[in-house]
Amino acid sequence: MAASSLPRKNVSVIGIGRLGLCFALVLENKGYNVVGVDLNTPYVKKINSKTLKSNEPRVEELLAASRNLRATESLAEGANHSDALFILVDTPSTGGERHYDHSKLGSVLSALNALKVKNKHIVIGCTVLPGYIAKVGRFLIQDCENCSLSYNPEFIAQGDIVNGQLRPDMVLIGEGSKAAGDRMQQIYEDMCENKPKICRMSPESAEITKLGVNCFITMKVTFSNLIGDIADRTPGADKFAITNAIGQDSRVGTKYLRPGYGFGGPCFPRDNRALGGYSEMVDIDPLLFKATDAYNKYHTAVQLKDKLAEPTESFTFTGVAYKPNTKVPIIEESQRLAIAKGLAEAGRRVLIRDYADTINEVKKEYGGLFQYEVLRDDQSNAPEAEVPRSIALAKPRLETKSESKLPAAAAPPAASSSYVAPSAPVSAASSSISATTTPITVGSLMASSASSAPTATPAATTATTAASTEDGQPRRASRAKAPAGAPASGSSATVAGAAGSTSAGQPAADDQGGCIIS
Ligand SMILES: NC(=O)c1ccc[n+]([C@@H]2O[C@H](COP(=O)([O-])OP(=O)(O)OC[C@H]3O[C@@H](n4cnc5c(N)ncnc54)[C@H](O)[C@@H]3O)[C@@H](O)[C@H]2O)c1
Repeated sequence: MAASSLPRKNVSVIGIGRLGLCFALVLENKGYNVVGVDLNTPYVKKINSKTLKSNEPRVEELLAASRNLRATESLAEGANHSDALFILVDTPSTGGERHYDHSKLGSVLSALNALKVKNKHIVIGCTVLPGYIAKVGRFLIQDCENCSLSYNPEFIAQGDIVNGQLRPDMVLIGEGSKAAGDRMQQIYEDMCENKPKICRMSPESAEITKLGVNCFITMKVTFSNLIGDIADRTPGADKFAITNAIGQDSRVGTKYLRPGYGFGGPCFPRDNRALGGYSEMVDIDPLLFKATDAYNKYHTAVQLKDKLAEPTESFTFTGVAYKPNTKVPIIEESQRLAIAKGLAEAGRRVLIRDYADTINEVKKEYGGLFQYEVLRDDQSNAPEAEVPRSIALAKPRLETKSESKLPAAAAPPAASSSYVAPSAPVSAASSSISATTTPITVGSLMASSASSAPTATPAATTATTAASTEDGQPRRASRAKAPAGAPASGSSATVAGAAGSTSAGQPAADDQGGCIIS
C-alpha cells in the first residue's frame, strides 16, 4: 500500500458507541488527533459539546479534558482524516445462523467502497463470525484502491473499558497486510500504558482467536462451577479450597477458577454459541462449547433449587447486573437475576437493590415481580455475602425421599442426589435437564414468561420465616462452619456457598457473576 501523506497521529473511529468512544478518547488522551463518526445526531452533538453523560468510568473525565477529538456524522470526513479507519459499530446477536448481525458493519464497508477510498488501513474492531473478513468484508470494499482490511477486536468489559484499553493483557492484530499490522502495532504501543503481548496473525486466525479466548474463559468458569457443585454435595469438601488448589498448578492458573454464579452478559454467552455455530458450519461438532453452555444453565438451575430448599422467605439481591459491582445497567443473561426471578415466581419475596439505571432495566423486563430499592451513587452494589475462602462450607443437600432416611454419613454423594447428570453427553439442543424428583426447566429460568417457573418449594419454607438475607445468605457474622459430613438443615448454620462468592477481587474483564481472581 502506498504510504499515506496524512499525519501518523490521525486516527478515525467509525461507530463511537460504548467501545468506540472509549477508544477514541483514550487515543486522544495519548496524543492522537481523532475524528469519530456516528449516525446518532443528538449523541454526536453531546460529544462535541462535552455534555455527554456516561456510566462508563472515566468517559466524562476524558471527554472534558479532550482537545483533539471531533465527532461527526459524515463518513467522508472520517475517511479523509486518517489512513487508519477503525470500525466499531454494533453487531448485535440477531444475525440468525450467522449469530452476529453484520448489517451495520456491512453498510459502513459498502459506504467506504462507494466513496472509493484509497490508501487506507480499514480495521474492523466489531465482533464478527469467523470467515466474515475473507468471505464478505473483502468483497464489500473491492473498489477501494490500495486498502487493507484487518481484524482487531478488543478484550474489554463494560464498566472497565478505558482501563481495559489502557492496560490490555494482549493486543490481537489480524493484519490484512504487514504495513497494516505495523501501523496498528505502533498505535497500540502509543496507547497502552503497559506492555501487552502483541499477537499478530491473519484476520482469519484473529477471528477465531477472539471467540476462542471467551470460549476458554467460559469453559473455565463452568468447570469451576461444576467442581463446586460436586463439592457442595460431598460432605466435608470445600469447593473454594479445591478450586484454589487446582489453580495453583501453573498449567491451570487461578483466574476465573472460583465457583460462583454462571456467566452472563452481552459477550460470553453469545461468543461461546457463535464459535459453536461456526464450528458446525465447518463440520466440527463443538461438543465442548455445547457442554459449557448447557452446564452454565444447569448450574443456575441447581443454585435456584438450592435456594428454594432454604427455609427463607425473603431474599435480597444487591447488584443484579450481569456482573457484580458495576454501575453499567446491563442485565442480559444475568444468572443472578435468573435465580431472583425463579425465587420470586416460586412465591418468595425478592428485594432487588441496585442503582437507578439497573433497576429501570429490571423493571422493564420484570415489572412488579420484585420489590426494589434504589442505591445512592455513593453506595456499593457489591453483594455483602462474601464467602471467606478459609471457611469450609456445606450446602443444604438436596435429598431424595429414600436418601433422606439414610444416616448422614451414609448419604450418597451427588450421583444419587436429586440431580441427575445427563447420562449421554450434554446436548446444547436440550434446554432442560431432568431431576429425579423435581424437574428443573432450565429454559424457564431465562425466559421472561412467568408460567414455567420451577415450583419446588420445600415444606420447611412454609413453616419458617427466616430473616431476610443477602441473596438468602446468612450474614457473615451468623455463619457457622458445618461439621464435615453433617446433613444440612437449611438453618443459618449451613451456608449456601455456591451463590455466595461475589465481588471482592472480581476480575475487571468479566462477564461472570461470581468468579473471583485468587
Ligand atoms: N462494549 C463492549 O464492551 C464490547 C466488548 C467487546 C466487543 N465489543 C464489540 O464492539 C462492537 C461495538 O460495540 P459497542 O458496545 O460499542 O456498540 P454500541 O451499540 O454501544 O455502539 C455502536 C455505535 O455505532 C454507531 N453506528 C451504527 N451504525 C453506524 C454507521 N453506519 N456509521 C456510523 N456509526 C454507526 C451507533 O450509533 C453506535 O453509537 C460490537 O461489535 C461489539 O460486539 C463490544
